[in-house]
Amino acid sequence: MTDIVYLNGEYLPRSEATLSVDDRGFYFGDGIYEATRAHDGHLFEGERHMRRLAYGLRELRIAGAPDSDTLLEIHDRVLRENGAVSGPAVVYTQITRGAAPRTHQFPSVAIPPTVFVAVIAYRPQRESRERGVAAVTYPDIRWARCDLKTVNLLPNVMARQHATDKGVTEAIFVRDGAVTEGSHTNVFAMLDGELRTHPLSNQILGGITRDVIIELAAEQGIPVREFPIFQRDLERVDELFITGTTTDVTPIIRLDDVPVASGAPGPVARALYGALMPRIEGVG
Ligand code: PDD
Repeated sequence: MTDIVYLNGEYLPRSEATLSVDDRGFYFGDGIYEATRAHDGHLFEGERHMRRLAYGLRELRIAGAPDSDTLLEIHDRVLRENGAVSGPAVVYTQITRGAAPRTHQFPSVAIPPTVFVAVIAYRPQRESRERGVAAVTYPDIRWARCDLKTVNLLPNVMARQHATDKGVTEAIFVRDGAVTEGSHTNVFAMLDGELRTHPLSNQILGGITRDVIIELAAEQGIPVREFPIFQRDLERVDELFITGTTTDVTPIIRLDDVPVASGAPGPVARALYGALMPRIEGVG
């Protein structure tokens, strides 16, 4: 397969794309990323992803990156250069503060950011969406700016590896007795007749899929409450599911080795998955 990536103004084979060892992304995780779903060569909610990216760049004071329209054009070209014009794909974008001799503070002279865009080969696992998956809880040991999609993902890496070691799909972060989100997903529960998910705050990433799911639930007349799911309530939820760019809507049917409700995917997850896919695939 051709694998053409965009790096700092050039489209080139992945094997020829090289970075400076002085890149601040390498030294400090000093950067922001996005993962955006595409279908048949069209991005799903590309503008929302670029808005979130721009927010992260602003908050981290990373200057000089291409604007959102230019980034979207780069996304389109990378999809086309790779022939990713039919079926699903994910476009990965990373922007770091750039390369400079290592100092914790920003470089004293302005440096260009490092801008990288590539296609990740991706096939959604329909079976996991339909049958559901198992997950484990994990202490949320992350910093207090989880609203920023930074490449500083070590707690998420450790959490997901813990899940992998346990033979399950996702680690669900718990902080102060409340579910925040998953290692790479947002978490929803049906509880007392309401669809609940953690409110937007510095403690979670404002997932694009999360936003769309809240909109789709409202369209379907499902009451939504952006309010924490407490750990003590997990044993009485009617449904639990995770959402994300690479996850769609995936029911959690076992948590910490205990079945969630009946241990089978529930009707709300199924209905929302059914509503989301035509949106992603551009037919709804
Ligand atoms: N992760 N929460 C976290 C911590 C995430 O990393 C992600 C996405 C989400 C869901 O956000 P969205 O719906 O915008 O994809 C929530 C991506 C897929 C990743 O790290 O690859």
